[in-house]
Amino acid sequence: MHKKVTVVGAGNVGANCALRIAGKELADVALVDVVEGVPQGKGLDLLQSGPVEGYDVMVTGSNDYEPTANSDIVVITAGFPRKPGMSRDDLLMANYEIVKASTEQSVKYSPNAILILVTNPLDAMCWTAFQVSKFSRNRVIGMAGILDTARYRTFLAMELGVSVESIQALVLGGHGDTMVPLVRLTTVSGIPVTELIDKARLDAIVQRTRDGGAEIVKHLKTGSAYYAPSAAAVEMVESILKDKKKVLPCAAHLEGEYGYNGLFVGVPVKLGAMGIEKVYEVQLTAGEKAMLDKSAAAVKELVDTIKQKTGA
Ligand code: NAI
Ligand code: 2OP
Repeated sequence: MHKKVTVVGAGNVGANCALRIAGKELADVALVDVVEGVPQGKGLDLLQSGPVEGYDVMVTGSNDYEPTANSDIVVITAGFPRKPGMSRDDLLMANYEIVKASTEQSVKYSPNAILILVTNPLDAMCWTAFQVSKFSRNRVIGMAGILDTARYRTFLAMELGVSVESIQALVLGGHGDTMVPLVRLTTVSGIPVTELIDKARLDAIVQRTRDGGAEIVKHLKTGSAYYAPSAAAVEMVESILKDKKKVLPCAAHLEGEYGYNGLFVGVPVKLGAMGIEKVYEVQLTAGEKAMLDKSAAAVKELVDTIKQKTGA
């Protein structure tokens, strides 16, 4: 029997997630959106790509959650994206309501699913889904670190004129301006990147990584990135459905790790059939820990705002 993945939000990220999941024949896909006709139309269009592309999975689209029943994974992309001049945090309360409703409906029909959150502000939306679903922490996971690391790896590869596949790197922290690319642990096929690029250039690449989302928004003007974000979310889907046990940077509910409690922060995790099967604690220098503290504090501020405004 095919696996089943629900994608909530049939916008740019959601539709591209559906396309990639179908294209890789990972699972049947149920697309859901509040706008009448959009998930139905995109779902049918994706289904009709199958004979050409050579994939054979079912894709459905609906405004209600009944067709999503018994999904193995639910990817939540529903919500507003950024417009120029907006920070991810400006989206907080509007997207809180959307993610709350999406989570309630998703878990009602798929009580055993693993939730992958994409909606921004990412770490606070993970917390929202965690609270609402009451799932154990291995089943609520946020997508951001893979994307941020992909941007960092891309910029490094461009700088060195080498394949992106030769860059091993890790970005920790919240999905925001305070994310923490770990330069010390970045290598080019095992060679420390600090031996290949001088500090001033590395600093500039770290900053460009932190601003990576805003750079795309500035170009697009009407929304934010979706090709790399959907690729990143689907890497998580694939690792879970195929029980690949990839070690990937994802937002995880920390329960003491890195000194944080009850907060979603981007850290390396092992993703397998059970969702998060292990959280890895990287030994950090004092400087790196200070940066991570700043990033975790920014996440906490958002969660505190939600708590104040909603009593959650
Ligand atoms: P989009 O505007 O193209 O699509 C969002 C979709 O959500 C729309 O089709 C809208 O009708 C739908 N929607 C709104 N309320 C809904 C509800 N209650 N139930 C179901 N669907 C609903 O936006 P895009 O570009 O797809 O981005 C989606 C979200 O993902 C945004 O919040 C964006 O900031 C975030 N994002 C996060 C990334 C990350 O790294 N975590 C990367 C890229 C985007
Ligand atoms: C990004 O990083 C907007 O969070 C989204 O592209």
